[in-house]
Amino acid sequence: MQVLGTIAEVRAARGGLGTLGLVPTMGFLHEGHLSLVRRARAECGAVAVSIFVNPTQFGPNEDLARYPRDLARDLALLDGEGAELVFNPSAAEIYPRGFSCRIEVEGVTSPLEGAARPGHFAGVATVVAKLFNIVQPSRAYFGQKDAQQAVVIRRMVSDLDMPVQVVVADTVREADGLALSSRNVYLDAAERAVAPTLFRALSRAKGLFEGGERDAQALREVVRDLIADQPGFRVEYVSVADPDTLQELGTVGSTALMSLAARLGRTRLIDNVVLRCSHEPMAGEPDLW
Ligand code: PAF
Repeated sequence: MQVLGTIAEVRAARGGLGTLGLVPTMGFLHEGHLSLVRRARAECGAVAVSIFVNPTQFGPNEDLARYPRDLARDLALLDGEGAELVFNPSAAEIYPRGFSCRIEVEGVTSPLEGAARPGHFAGVATVVAKLFNIVQPSRAYFGQKDAQQAVVIRRMVSDLDMPVQVVVADTVREADGLALSSRNVYLDAAERAVAPTLFRALSRAKGLFEGGERDAQALREVVRDLIADQPGFRVEYVSVADPDTLQELGTVGSTALMSLAARLGRTRLIDNVVLRCSHEPMAGEPDLW
C-alpha cells in the first residue's frame, strides 16, 4: 500500500492503477468506511482512500480542532483491506497560499444541513472536486448516512460533467441501530445509551409509511414525539423531502428522504431513512437510493 502526501506523487502513481475506486474520508475510520472500501475492492481494479480532515467544511464554532484522528490505526485497517493507495495530504497541499476557488452547488445545499451549517457544502464540493481531479477515479464511494452530501456530489458531478460514477452505499449501523459515525466517540455512556432513539423513531415513521401513511407532517410529528420522550435531545430538524430536490413534501408519493439532525449533549447527530413504496424496479429505472 502506497501512502502518499503530495499531488505530484498521486499523479505519478495513478497511471499504473487502471480502474480506480476512490473512498474519500476524513479518517478515524469505522466499519462504514471499510464497507465502502470493500465495495470499491469488489467493483474496481484498485482502491484509493483519501484521509483529509477538510478545514473548509467546518464552521467557525464547529469541531475541527477536536475532530478525532488516528492515522496509524487508519493505515493498519486500510492495509488489512488491501487498499492500493492512501492519499493523506496536508492542508497546505490542498489549499496552497493564494487558493481562491469555491464550488457552490445551488438549491440542494440550501435546506437541512446547508441551513444549519452555512458554507459546509461549498467546502465539501470544493474538496471532493479537487480529490476527483487529483486521483481521477472511475468510481467514488460515499455513505447514505450523509444523504444530502450524496445529493450535492451527484449534482456537482452531473452539472460539471465529471467523468466519475458516484456510488452511494447503505448506512452501516451498530447492533442497536445507531448509525456509525466518527463523531460517535464524543458521546458519553448515558448519551450513547439513548442515541439509538433517532433510528428507532425514523424506523417507526418508515413502518407507518409502509402501512399507508402519506401525510408528511404526520410522519415528522411521530419522529419528533418519540425523540421528545427521551431526555437530552435537542432536535434541529425532521424532514420529509423529495430525494432529488430536497424540497419538503406535504404528501409523500412513491419516494421520500426522511432525515433529521439532533443535538445530544455536545454531539450533533444526523440520520435518515428512505421511504419508498415497495415495487419491482422497472427496466432502466435508476436506483438512486
Ligand atoms: O463525508 C466525509 O467524510 C467528508 O465530507 C468528505 C466527503 C471526505 C469530504 O471531506
